[in-house]
Amino acid sequence: MREQDFIPVGYKKSVQSGKVTWQSPSNIALVKYWGKKENQIPANPSVSFTLKNCKTITTLEFQKKETRGEDFDFELFFEGNKKDDFKPKITKFFERIEKYSPFLKDYKLIIQTENTFPHSSGIASSASGMSALALCLMSLEKQLNPELTEDYFLKKASFLARLGSGSACRSIEGELIEWGKHESTAGSSDLFGIKYPYKVHEVFKTYQDTILLVDKGQKQVSSTLGHNLMHGHPFAEARFEQAHANLEKLQVVFETGNLPDFINIVESEALSLHAMMMSSEPYFILMKPNTLEIINKIWQYRETTGVPVCFTLDAGANVHVLYPEEHKEEVLAFIKNELVAYCEKGQYICDSIGKGAEKL
Ligand code: PMV
Repeated sequence: MREQDFIPVGYKKSVQSGKVTWQSPSNIALVKYWGKKENQIPANPSVSFTLKNCKTITTLEFQKKETRGEDFDFELFFEGNKKDDFKPKITKFFERIEKYSPFLKDYKLIIQTENTFPHSSGIASSASGMSALALCLMSLEKQLNPELTEDYFLKKASFLARLGSGSACRSIEGELIEWGKHESTAGSSDLFGIKYPYKVHEVFKTYQDTILLVDKGQKQVSSTLGHNLMHGHPFAEARFEQAHANLEKLQVVFETGNLPDFINIVESEALSLHAMMMSSEPYFILMKPNTLEIINKIWQYRETTGVPVCFTLDAGANVHVLYPEEHKEEVLAFIKNELVAYCEKGQYICDSIGKGAEKL
């Protein structure tokens, strides 16, 4: 599918008003997206586990206006409270998608949103938030054009979510989602995420992700700024090639369930992502001392017990601890005994691989 295929050629129905609710999960990348071209086109392909418990629930109410507005007309509520400081981000999102969702200015919109994870937990809500909103908009588009196919609906939801926040395009479906053109993945696209199309070993279908909240504060450097620092970065080309190669290697791992290789690729990706941050100009560090303490504890534990547990990182200090479900009990005991001490207020979130967004 091409970009033009997402521009509607008129609507078949007229819809006066309505209300729709979607819940959409967060996701955790195994091969990281870091660096982008214009319009949120990724500089390299990425693949992620869709999560199950960390979700945003968004309700969109729409009321057709007598005359089409000059500007976007919407109100935004977060956990029941009016949130005008989120409005610029949503306005920017609407500006980016107006070409593909030209009905936007025909309606007065009320957006109500809440997260299942604690606010300011340092967990990025942009992936779950933007994907939930994109799905609500697609539900309205589906009412305007009832013959939209399921496949088009999901691809366009991912396409729109991408324009809100790149990684959000990986939060529409589960369980493994790939985004970005990759030579060895049929159907892969820079425009939207696709369900990983090849064989996936049983072990990955119930993988666990326990998120250790090391630092719940505001990020010092936004991911937008971080992506931009990959322009002119001395290691950019090598990093993009590495991501392609790691995705290639992961295909074998997904099929065979080879956990030592999985661990090696996933941890290397996490550290490469942070190495890019530490070697950009200006340079910055998002890990905290406790992030490193935790990483070392995980390495020690894996070495002494042989339990295949590993870590990955987002653009922040929190640590995602990844492990197969069959080791859940012992890993949770290890986390409680040895890692919780490094978490801010002892907080962590138990999550696992999920099946994607749901209409409520
Ligand atoms: O979607 P953004 O622009 O917030 O970028 C997310 C980047 C990482 O989380 C660091 C990696 C990824 O692929 O999710």
